[in-house]
Amino acid sequence: MVYAKQRHKVLVHYVGKYLGAKRILGTNLQKAGLTLQRVVWSRRATSWDEMSNPGLDRVVGEVLRLVGDRPDANALDLGCGSGQLSIPLASQVKSVVALDIAPKMIELLRSKLETGGITNVTAAVGSVQQYGIVNGSVDLVCSNYVLHHLSDNEKLRFVKDCFEWLVPGGELIFGDMMFGRGSTADDRAVIADKVKILMKKGIGGYWRIAKNGVRYLFRFQEKPISLAAWVDMLKKVGFVEINTQRVIAEAGVICAKKPQ
Ligand SMILES: C[S@@+](CC[C@H](N)C(=O)[O-])C[C@H]1O[C@@H](n2cnc3c(N)ncnc32)[C@H](O)[C@@H]1O
Repeated sequence: MVYAKQRHKVLVHYVGKYLGAKRILGTNLQKAGLTLQRVVWSRRATSWDEMSNPGLDRVVGEVLRLVGDRPDANALDLGCGSGQLSIPLASQVKSVVALDIAPKMIELLRSKLETGGITNVTAAVGSVQQYGIVNGSVDLVCSNYVLHHLSDNEKLRFVKDCFEWLVPGGELIFGDMMFGRGSTADDRAVIADKVKILMKKGIGGYWRIAKNGVRYLFRFQEKPISLAAWVDMLKKVGFVEINTQRVIAEAGVICAKKPQ
C-alpha cells in the first residue's frame, strides 16, 4: 500500500514536470513563430505592397462588399499589411484600427495614410495573439490573408477573442486561403489548381511549389483550414448567421455575427 502511494507520487511528479515542460516549450515555440513572422513579413513588406494579384484583389473586394457602408462602425483590421484592406475600408466605416506584426508594413501603411490624407485609420504594430483590445468595444473585425499563418489553436483563440471584442450584433468578416490537408476531393482540387498555376510560371513556379509544399506539409507558416472547419469553429464559439463564399479556387470569405 505504502509502495503504491509512493509510485503514485512519483507518477504525479513526472506528469507535472512533463506538462510544465510542454507548456514552456509551447510558449517558446509560439514566441519563435511570432518572431519569424515579424522578420519574414518585414523583409517581404515592399514586394507585397507593390505586388499586383487580381485573385487577391477579388478576395479583398468581397470582404469590402460584405462590410458595405457602416458609417457608425469602429472596425479592426488584423494583420493589415500595408493597408490593402484598411485603406478602402476606411471610406466605408467610422474608424479603423489597423494592426500588424511587421513594423515595416506599418511604416508603409502610415506613409500611405499621410500621403492620402486619411485620418480615420490608426496603424500600430502588434500580433493577433497579443492585442490588448477591450471586450465589447468593436463593431466589426476584419482580416485578409492572415489567419492561415496561425496554428489551429491560435485560430480558435482568435475566434474566441473576436467574439469577446465585438459588441452584440457585431460581425467578424475575413478572407483567407481556405482548404484543408488534402483529405477531401475539394482540397485536392484546390491543391492541384495551385500547382498547375505555379507550374506555368517556369523555374520560379517550381521553386514556389517546393517551398510552399514543405511549409504546407509541415504546417510551418502556411496552415490553412477548410471553409467547413472555419464554420464549425465559429459555431462552437457562438457565432450565428455564418455566411461563406469561395471567391477564388484557394480562398474564400466568411461573415459571422455575434448574437444580439
Ligand atoms: C499575406 S499578408 C496580408 C496583408 C494584408 N492583410 C493584405 O490583405 O494584403 C499577411 C500579413 O499578416 C501579418 N501577420 C502574420 N502573422 C501575424 C500575427 N501573428 N499577428 C499579426 N499580423 C500577422 C504579416 O505581417 C503580413 O502583413
